[in-house]
Amino acid sequence: MILYFAPMEGITSCVFRQVHARCFPGVDGYYAPFLAPDGQGRCKASALRELLPENNRDLRLTPQILTNSPEAFVNLSRELVAMGYEEVNLNAGCPSGTVVPKHKGAGMLADPDALDAFLDRVFSQCPISVSVKTRLGLESTAEFERLLQVYEHYPIQLLIVHARDRQGMYRSRPDLDAFVRAAEAAHLPLCYNGDLVDRASLTLIREKVPGLERFMLGRGAAADPSLFRQLRGGAPLSSEELENYLARLEEGFLTWGLSEHFTLARLKELWYYLGCLFPGGEKGRKRILKSQNLGDYRAAVQGLFAQGLFDPSAHFPGELG
Ligand SMILES: Cc1cc2nc3c(=O)[nH]c(=O)nc-3n(C[C@H](O)[C@H](O)[C@H](O)COP(=O)(O)O)c2cc1C
Repeated sequence: MILYFAPMEGITSCVFRQVHARCFPGVDGYYAPFLAPDGQGRCKASALRELLPENNRDLRLTPQILTNSPEAFVNLSRELVAMGYEEVNLNAGCPSGTVVPKHKGAGMLADPDALDAFLDRVFSQCPISVSVKTRLGLESTAEFERLLQVYEHYPIQLLIVHARDRQGMYRSRPDLDAFVRAAEAAHLPLCYNGDLVDRASLTLIREKVPGLERFMLGRGAAADPSLFRQLRGGAPLSSEELENYLARLEEGFLTWGLSEHFTLARLKELWYYLGCLFPGGEKGRKRILKSQNLGDYRAAVQGLFAQGLFDPSAHFPGELG
């Protein structure tokens, strides 16, 4: 079984990846949040700094590109090859209202012929293996039959399928029947993504698609950083591990050069997910989210731990249950 950490803009930054990989080793690969290049394939130096090998030691990282311009994709891929990367991922799944109308992310799924033309240009020129992260469709998961025909024309290294259409955002129940049909029809290597939050949800997918070996975890792993270990039969998260992880993240953000304000913002973003490990701890979680400086934040976190509500069997509320 191969387990990947999903790209999560605002969460899985290089500091996060380094701290996670050290505290919870055993993830087979991390996919970086998307780079959004201009038409020539240029992006901000700060975005590229996140990907420098020295900022991503001891982990396997795949950068991701969000664009519908083959030139931009190929040019940026060349830069990534020069940095030592061997795989780049195309984002064909982002459901955001600012992305889809520009025919990027999940917006690429609206027109399978245009997607085909994009992939044709990319695969004829790209100096690096290309994987794709897609949804099952834009308006409907029934679109995937046609989309898969397009993908199957190309030597895609890995087709990561988020088992919803764009309409479902991150909320609808993943369409497992459509995913099973895709798995039966696909010759490309497939990876399942969507609402894997505990062993039961993984078991459900493995029973539906017995030969499937690759899985990608996002919110479930943001909520419980030990989820990869648990899915392999390992121990649940301990409160000491969580406290140590949080302290290292805070230190990591500050050392990276983030101000106290932005360090706090990053930690609060993560607490949106971590909160589910403290059932009944709504008040304590709110106090964390309201904290205005790191001193208040630390006191609020300590207060929440002191309430004794930490429950390692709790998990992010996925839709597969
Ligand atoms: C806050 C947030 C940021 C995300 N950023 C990205 C991204 O940069 N690139 C991408 O392909 N998917 C992104 N996703 C989607 C996740 O990679 C993943 O497909 C989604 O969360 C569903 O998987 P999960 O149910 O395991 O969380 C993001 C999701 C969330 C919630």
